[in-house]
Amino acid sequence: MTVPQMKEAVCRWARQCYEEKLFAGTSGNLSVYDKEAGVMAITPTSVAYEAITPEDMSVIRLDGTVLEGPYRPSSEWRMHAAVYEAKPEAGAVIHTHSPYATAFAVNNRNIPAILIEMAFFLGGDVPLAKFAVPGTREVGTEAVKALAGRTGCLLANHGVLALGKDLEQAHLRAVYIEDAAKICSIAMSNGPIVAISQEQIDAMRG
Ligand code: 13P
Repeated sequence: MTVPQMKEAVCRWARQCYEEKLFAGTSGNLSVYDKEAGVMAITPTSVAYEAITPEDMSVIRLDGTVLEGPYRPSSEWRMHAAVYEAKPEAGAVIHTHSPYATAFAVNNRNIPAILIEMAFFLGGDVPLAKFAVPGTREVGTEAVKALAGRTGCLLANHGVLALGKDLEQAHLRAVYIEDAAKICSIAMSNGPIVAISQEQIDAMRG
């Protein structure tokens, strides 16, 4: 992907996440990373998603050096950089504030593995990363710890993080995290839930 293509993709998926209410207000952010070039395109901080254009996107290195963009990069760029450094399979990272999943993050609990899609798309349950001060690298290092064997996690009292080889895959995972949290919330209001066992998850994943 060229840098203009990266900026276009980041802008397009950010608007989609906003329209789908995975982002709220100006919160939530997403990025793509070109490993060979060592360059990340990321949403700018605190800019209204209704009106953003590809030219508004920030292009930075993983050390925070700004290469392009009229605004400051997302305040969570360090978290994105920490994930790319620790997870070579990651080409895109999405951080949402989707409400049902973020409610579990506020409860400081994981989303149990309750749906078959969670085995295929998420690797099992959605674990909880320990709280870290927003904007610090620690948000990313705690997320990386929680992401062992998983493609998404919750950030305590903060939101959701999903990764993928590209934005399409990261977005799909963020959608499944919110879907699982919503269904789990409804199921818990009906009565006790039954989670899928690790053996069953392993059997489904072959
Ligand atoms: P920005 O990307 O606008 O800095 O958003 C902050 C945020 O979502 C913190 O969780």
